[in-house]
Amino acid sequence: MSESTELEGRRFPAPEQLAAQANVGPDAYERAAQDRLGFWAEAADRLSWAQKWDEVLDWSNPPFAKWFVGGKLNVAYNCVDRHVEAGHGEQVAYHWEGEPGDTRTITYAQLKDDVCKAANALLELGVQAGDRVAIYMPMIPEAVVAMLACARIGAVHMVVFGGFSADALASRITDSGAVLVVTSDGGYRRGSPSALKPAVDDAVARTESVRNVLVVRRTKQDVEWSEGRDLWWHDVVDRQSTEHTPEAFDAEHPLYIMYTSGTTASPKGILHTSGGYLTQVAFTHWASFDLKADTDVFWTSADIGWVTGHSYIVYGPLANRATSIMYEGTPETPHRGRWFELIEKYKVTIMYTAPTVIRTFMKWGEDIPAGFDLSSLRLLGSVGEPINPEAWLWYHKNIGGGRCPIVDTWWQTETGAHMINPLPGVTALKPGSAQTPFPGISAKVVDDEGNELGDDSSGLLVLTEPWPSMLRTIWGDDDRYVDTYWSRFGKEVYFAGDGAKKDADGDIWLLGRVDDVMNVSGHRISTTEVESSLVAHPTVAEAAVVGASDPTTGQGIVAFVILRGNAEDSGDELVQQLRTHVAKDIGPIAKPRQIMVVQELPKTRSGKIMRRLLRDIAENRELGDVTTLTDSSVMNLIKDKLPASS
Ligand code: WTA
Repeated sequence: MSESTELEGRRFPAPEQLAAQANVGPDAYERAAQDRLGFWAEAADRLSWAQKWDEVLDWSNPPFAKWFVGGKLNVAYNCVDRHVEAGHGEQVAYHWEGEPGDTRTITYAQLKDDVCKAANALLELGVQAGDRVAIYMPMIPEAVVAMLACARIGAVHMVVFGGFSADALASRITDSGAVLVVTSDGGYRRGSPSALKPAVDDAVARTESVRNVLVVRRTKQDVEWSEGRDLWWHDVVDRQSTEHTPEAFDAEHPLYIMYTSGTTASPKGILHTSGGYLTQVAFTHWASFDLKADTDVFWTSADIGWVTGHSYIVYGPLANRATSIMYEGTPETPHRGRWFELIEKYKVTIMYTAPTVIRTFMKWGEDIPAGFDLSSLRLLGSVGEPINPEAWLWYHKNIGGGRCPIVDTWWQTETGAHMINPLPGVTALKPGSAQTPFPGISAKVVDDEGNELGDDSSGLLVLTEPWPSMLRTIWGDDDRYVDTYWSRFGKEVYFAGDGAKKDADGDIWLLGRVDDVMNVSGHRISTTEVESSLVAHPTVAEAAVVGASDPTTGQGIVAFVILRGNAEDSGDELVQQLRTHVAKDIGPIAKPRQIMVVQELPKTRSGKIMRRLLRDIAENRELGDVTTLTDSSVMNLIKDKLPASS
């Protein structure tokens, strides 16, 4: 038996003490199985509604769902005001820590004042309910304040990860029609200030819809200023009143758009709405992490530019009145123990992070976490990609001290909240498996025809019932919404794009994407998007991109390019140029790990590039079946190009 098969057989029962006091026990599964809609209605009752709904779910026109029909609420009121009204104004909402070590402690009362001021500022700038607001910021408290201010006045926020390029920002602004951009001069990254405003200037110059740019001063870098358009946050927000009466919006009022990579070059604007989204993020945050608002200190290490940040730094934790950590920088700045130092300093009890980070910590060695007091931790979470059993056990032993359950959560930008994960007080954990659909969620593994598979088999993951925090559409493109997610197996079955296996006990193991989407350090990047960036370079005629498995990042981007006739293959220099070009075009996260210049690409007779074969090459495997190739000697040509060592 190999070491990893042996590990896959191990079980970790729920710690007794945790099980005895867990927010959610085994009865949740029974309750949800008997009455799924009643179960979600009870979850929605944990929120504060200005008007109760008439109907839990309207699924009369699939795949267009309406949850909590007729209900009205204000999302920001639920995240902030109601906790202050209930006497918890002095509780800390965020312990914020900047990369250079500067700190801010923000209580719920302060957060309420800040959100009201920002809401009043947005109104003064003419932002109305339904308008889109782009947010392009580092991990500073104003980013959260801006999101909540939008939610408060019914504007739709569209956060773009600060590591994305001006191009990526421009296309998202154009697609969403944003009227305002909230940004900052820059943020701190790897020990130095990193500018954001120049990318905004560049992007906004290429778009039509933006009237104003609201700029937070963070790094004090020099910025270009466009008079009349640009405004300092401290000039406009600070002078506003701390009073603002929240208006109740329809449960289906749009809350935000988040762009994510799909199988084509243009990212999809995933639309989330208010009541159902907040219900499921709040409930899952409370149940999956057993969150105790009075005593826990919760830390999601993601950036708010990703859905994990939206759901589990902002909306879930705030709706549950959690005390959270928010950290601006990278794990190795100024030293590789930075995260552990933060856990020790703030006595973090629940840590939620990604397998790629854990594998990086593994590489750095267990002596680093061993140098800090991590005894405050009681529960750990994982998200973004499958966590391999070795990484699971390392996390369990070296960060969790052997006592903390690890909750591996499978979900997507589209699903909005956790969908498949163990419950910490209930499930006996299996390292590497996400295990069980969350109560009230119906997930199945099917074959290519959509037939449900039994235990001990692999196929495709589908969701067979609508869920409260599901995406409602792709912004401005209902047809693409239907085509992408709801056409492969009919209008009532959501195709997730992930492969999955059911083991002999019926537990679910996620096997990665089955489409042309790569997962690099937990970030979704489309192969087509990188290919179109490469062919936009004057030297490249054709490009094929694959995700090759990588011990640290999960997958690494490997590109094969054919040069234009007149382009000179300058070897390394050209490869570096191309890598930089993609990083500039899309963002550093999309920079290919490796680029190979080749004469030809393997294609099927119908002209489709055979990525499977390229992946074999990129992963140094024996070539698979080449019989459908037009010309199988192409593969030898490509292999001949490879350095002998690889
Ligand atoms: C992958 C991030 C295995 C999966 C919340 C999915 C996972 C994509 C897990 C969504 C997990 C996420 N185990 N795979 N626990 N979590 N994935 O939209 O392929 O950035 O489809 O959402 O990440 O990525 P997204």
